[in-house]
Amino acid sequence: MLTKKVENALNKQIEMEGYASNYYLSAASWCDSRGLEGCGQFLYGHADEERMHMMKIFYYINDAGGYALAPEIKQPPTKFKSILELFEAILAHEIKVTNSINDLVNLCLHEKDHSTNNFLQWYVAEQHEEEKLFRQVIEKIKLIGDDPKGHYWIDKELAGMGAASAKGGGAGSAT
Ligand code: FEO
Repeated sequence: MLTKKVENALNKQIEMEGYASNYYLSAASWCDSRGLEGCGQFLYGHADEERMHMMKIFYYINDAGGYALAPEIKQPPTKFKSILELFEAILAHEIKVTNSINDLVNLCLHEKDHSTNNFLQWYVAEQHEEEKLFRQVIEKIKLIGDDPKGHYWIDKELAGMGAASAKGGGAGSAT
């Protein structure tokens, strides 16, 4: 059974995961429309993953006797100055999600809700993996170069990473 505080906080997290999904979708479109199909493919895959994160919480709330709310989702940024800026913005947003998950875990401990705390541990692991992944991508962009020639190689690199994550990797492969 969920306390009202936990139920409300989980519904806020649904909104955040939905926003994250749209953030990736917007970033994918920015890349796709500039001939960076590999980056686009990688980011479309992450948009799907974030929707799965949202739905996992959605089902959990109803299964635990609460009421999941379909979220109102504001439009994410649609303009980025460069690929480096785009991925730095994504990492900054993932750090916000991590902080929100940590706050949720703290709330569950305070409310003695061990079931939801247990459920959220998957998200704790997932956020660790996502932050690590996007730090790696940013390091690669800095190594290769955030310029037209560099973009060609970054696109090839991320096309491979997109294919690897589509086959299922990290905590993101859990259902
Ligand atoms: Fe599900 Fe990476 O936020």
